[in-house]
Amino acid sequence: MRLLVLGGTVFVGHTVAAEALRRGHEVVCAARGTSGEAPAGARLVRVDRNEPDGLAALAGERFDAVVDVATVSYPWVRDAVRVLGPGAGHWTFVSTGNVYADAATPGQTESAELLAPRQVDGSVPDADPDLYGAVKVASENEVLAHLADRAFIVRAGLITGPRDRSDRFGYWPGRFARGGRVLLPPTEGQMTQHIDVRDLASWIVDAGEQRTTGVYNGICPPRPLTAFLDEIREIVAPAGTETVVATEEQLRDNEVQYWGGPRSLPLWLPPTHLGFASRDASAALAAGLRIRPFEDAVRGALAVEQELGFDRERKSGLTPGQEKEVLDKLQA
Ligand SMILES: NC(=O)c1ccc[n+]([C@@H]2O[C@H](COP(=O)([O-])OP(=O)(O)OC[C@H]3O[C@@H](n4cnc5c(N)ncnc54)[C@H](OP(=O)(O)O)[C@@H]3O)[C@@H](O)[C@H]2O)c1
Repeated sequence: MRLLVLGGTVFVGHTVAAEALRRGHEVVCAARGTSGEAPAGARLVRVDRNEPDGLAALAGERFDAVVDVATVSYPWVRDAVRVLGPGAGHWTFVSTGNVYADAATPGQTESAELLAPRQVDGSVPDADPDLYGAVKVASENEVLAHLADRAFIVRAGLITGPRDRSDRFGYWPGRFARGGRVLLPPTEGQMTQHIDVRDLASWIVDAGEQRTTGVYNGICPPRPLTAFLDEIREIVAPAGTETVVATEEQLRDNEVQYWGGPRSLPLWLPPTHLGFASRDASAALAAGLRIRPFEDAVRGALAVEQELGFDRERKSGLTPGQEKEVLDKLQA
């Protein structure tokens, strides 16, 4: 198969390209090449999708499958569909669970109501979850409007594993592996979901090979956050590790944030978002998504944490100093 990855130098795109190469496919990656390298064996075509006619270097090329990881740019997706769609046998668009309008109700399927699409001009930061979701809805619509018979749309949830730089899932294996007193959020009613990037990449390459189409929640089945934390503790924590469960009010008083970002307890959700990490994954599993054993995902994320160093400035989670400060206040 001749596969084009629009991206391929960072995380999801890089892993898809590497998996396709491992299976013996011919892989072209198209990116500026400023964030990193394409995997060895792939051909990198330098393109800048912010430029008018930015995909000109690929015009007229034919691919058996195209994978687009465009994060928050509607025009990137629109232009890619126009320039490359006519010569593509299959088209994967990596979308997100942020497309859904209702973050409160657990167990929703792919047919749940979506945010209103926003065809924002140019790329926008993904820091605003609703704008991020709305631009992804517009991008999904663009793909479906022109390539519905070939489109595979994956609404991924939290992606973890090698090359993850978001520091969210990895916070917990990294934290438990250090032992001592571990600060936990209240977990009652909280669910969580993730997907290891290697499982996601494998499914995307399968879909290109098998011409799978449709729209899917690309995520593992939900599990209670309590069980998630207990299992990670069992897998990586040294003997003598203690846990201290704070109340919502105590965490708020200490400016500890939900979900992710600096000074957060990752994956902990506000009461308004209890459906956010509880999407129905059954259609994806029926369409061939295979989820590795939880222990593999945990050890993969721990390896990333060890490589980056526990004392680094984190994108998400508490630094050891911040956690100690909160624990000391709680126990005073
Ligand atoms: N992380 C999560 O937990 C999560 C959850 C749900 C969905 N997702 C989705 O997963 C995807 C993430 O993709 P990713 O991890 O491979 O990485 P990414 O950080 O989104 O990188 C996207 C690619 O775009 C390229 N790029 C950036 N600016 C460009 C430009 N002006 N012209 C051409 N290419 C450009 C980058 O390469 P260069 O900079 O080298 O050009 C990179 O290869 C996104 O679609 C995101 O919405 C992520």
